[in-house]
Amino acid sequence: MIKVNFTNALSEAVFEKYLGQVKDIHHMIHDKTGLGSDFLGWVEWPNTYDQAELAAMKQTAKQLANEIDVLLVIGIGGSYLGARAAIEMINGLYSQQKVKVIYLGNTMSSTYMAQVLQYLQNKKFGICVVSKSGTTTEPAIAFRLCKELLEKKEGFLKAAKLIVAITDKHKGALKTLADEAGYQTFVIPDDIGGRYSVLTPVGVFAMLVSGIDVDNVFKGAQQAYQDTLIDDLTNYAYKYAVGRYILNYEKKYKAEMLVTYELQMQMITEWWKQLFGESEGKDSKGLLPLSCIFSTDLHSLGQFIQEGTKNILFETVIEIKKPQLDLALTKAEQDIDGLNYLAGKTLHEVNITAIQGVIAAHIKVGHVPNIILEFETMDDKMFGYLSYWFMKACAMSAYLLKINPFDQPGVEIYKKNMFDLLGKN
Ligand code: PA5
Repeated sequence: MIKVNFTNALSEAVFEKYLGQVKDIHHMIHDKTGLGSDFLGWVEWPNTYDQAELAAMKQTAKQLANEIDVLLVIGIGGSYLGARAAIEMINGLYSQQKVKVIYLGNTMSSTYMAQVLQYLQNKKFGICVVSKSGTTTEPAIAFRLCKELLEKKEGFLKAAKLIVAITDKHKGALKTLADEAGYQTFVIPDDIGGRYSVLTPVGVFAMLVSGIDVDNVFKGAQQAYQDTLIDDLTNYAYKYAVGRYILNYEKKYKAEMLVTYELQMQMITEWWKQLFGESEGKDSKGLLPLSCIFSTDLHSLGQFIQEGTKNILFETVIEIKKPQLDLALTKAEQDIDGLNYLAGKTLHEVNITAIQGVIAAHIKVGHVPNIILEFETMDDKMFGYLSYWFMKACAMSAYLLKINPFDQPGVEIYKKNMFDLLGKN
């Protein structure tokens, strides 16, 4: 479901010398012998996820969706980005789904928070609060404020039925709170870290409330699991990882710009930035992950990419083969806007032409290498596929750099500093 094309970035010959390393790292991932191997639970997850828990989530999500108009998904980083990426990619930005999703706990902006609370005054809403540690400050504050409003509107007992907590099986403040108040809880497995958790209840519960067919998401992930079992460079996820390593280490590029031509894929690029940035940005190593939405950014950063400072970044362009929806361009009686020359084409065909035109400009004139990722579709199965595929590519990529892909010591420093400055015991 994903093909990688390096024609405009690297020659085939440069990959060969990495074959041995790829084989070793593949076995390191599957045999759990590498750095951070306690957090490799996501590798087998598409086949080992708890079916009884999924059935319980489906039931709870259905009941909740019947009772509410708005779902608040409260979380940050790996406890937020995956759910949003899935919901926006699969449902689109103006979906007809009954339940609207609002994301909180990823900011401490008082204005944003207060505005959402005002908006919720007259809405029937429920809460899905997600935190593995159960102690992260941003979601904890947002949850306290939203819970208070919900309890005021609905009463303590009814509010408790409209709250679902997704957290550690045994420990953390959120787990204690949930047990005391009687919230339904679902578990974040011990051996799966935040940014690798989208296929666990962390992403799945919100997807279910949003009407997404999660069985299809798992089918996609299972297919990606099969396709990435190969331990050589015919495995596209590994080829992508090696290609970006060569561009970084041999060709000295510092940044990778992930480009999409679909607005509903913007949060996929945000999820990807966290996955690669937090997994690899350690020991003064790693490519800086950036993202652009074209055509939007062709009229801003496009100029810099084309003619600005050279040898900083390469682009990885996502090309969607089959759009969810398309529009035919027809002939107008009077061609005052001069667009009749497009009659007979579809809007997606024009978008694909833009991709080809931009790639040619950025490569031939701008001399910016371009990797092309061909995605078949933008649906539920594709989301399952791409999320697993990128996680596998990221593990390979970080191990090539000799980095632990599964910790985030830098993030922990800021979290601790905040606790100290705010006077937490
Ligand atoms: O990927 C990660 O591990 C992080 O981004 C965490 O998900 C994020 O810091 C939120 O942590 P928690 O779920 O403990 O609130």
